[in-house]
Amino acid sequence: MSALLALHDIHTAYGLSRVLFGISLEIAAGECVCLLGRNGVGKTTTMRSIMGLTRPSSGRVVWKGGDIAGWPPHRVAKAGIGLVPEDRRVFAELTVWENLDVAQRACRRPGPWNVQRVYEVFPKLRELADRQAGFLSGGEQQMLTIGRTLMCNPELLLLDEPSEGLAPLVVDRLLEQVGELKQQGLTILLAEQGVDFSLRLADRVYVLEKGTVRHSGPALELREDAALRDRLLAL
Ligand SMILES: Nc1ncnc2c1ncn2[C@@H]1O[C@H](COP(=O)(O)OP(=O)(O)OP(=O)(O)O)[C@@H](O)[C@H]1O
Ligand SMILES: [Mg+2]
Repeated sequence: MSALLALHDIHTAYGLSRVLFGISLEIAAGECVCLLGRNGVGKTTTMRSIMGLTRPSSGRVVWKGGDIAGWPPHRVAKAGIGLVPEDRRVFAELTVWENLDVAQRACRRPGPWNVQRVYEVFPKLRELADRQAGFLSGGEQQMLTIGRTLMCNPELLLLDEPSEGLAPLVVDRLLEQVGELKQQGLTILLAEQGVDFSLRLADRVYVLEKGTVRHSGPALELREDAALRDRLLAL
């Protein structure tokens, strides 16, 4: 497999508190890979380490063959990696359309995405175009956060817990929409606590435990083997 992104032995700490202890993983172009694991195992920190939001203390983040560890986030975004953060930060005072427009201006990375194309994947956002983002439901805000990141034309989308706190029907719709992005050729790294969302979407999974990779393999294996799933992920 020739990797679009590869992490080699990443160690990351917040001050003196060490969180990642040698994470290595690979994502090929067009793949959907999921980081699975319970609360606090280091899924978000792995994404922050890729994005340059928290600088790894050691290890390599190899993007298209070059080491980008330590690059500032805007440079990582410009290189083609987009993060959809778990806290769904939208500009509450701006309308849906303005949120999308601002994102495009902020990053100026050329590519196929524009407001109309975001509306094609998320038709609800077209209906809500003039609504202030602060009044959107959780699911709508999640769509908008993904849409904003797409406006930067990423080749790799880092999706941090997209289904968290959403009602089952909303999650089903979101699953279809993220599946549609995958169909369109986007490479996706997903972080999830829940197996339902992730195993329906992912090609491969890495199960994290206390800042290390406990297991890696095809998603199919975990979908079909309940005992393995329980052993790796039981609460
Ligand atoms: N800014 C921070 N400063 C100090 N410690 C942090 C910080 N952010 C996270 N941590 C700690 O790092 C560990 C890993 O957190 P992280 O957010 O990466 O886990 P996670 O797998 O994303 O969890 P969750 O499923 O709850 O989102 C946790 O023990 C957490 O308390
Ligand atoms: Mg997290």
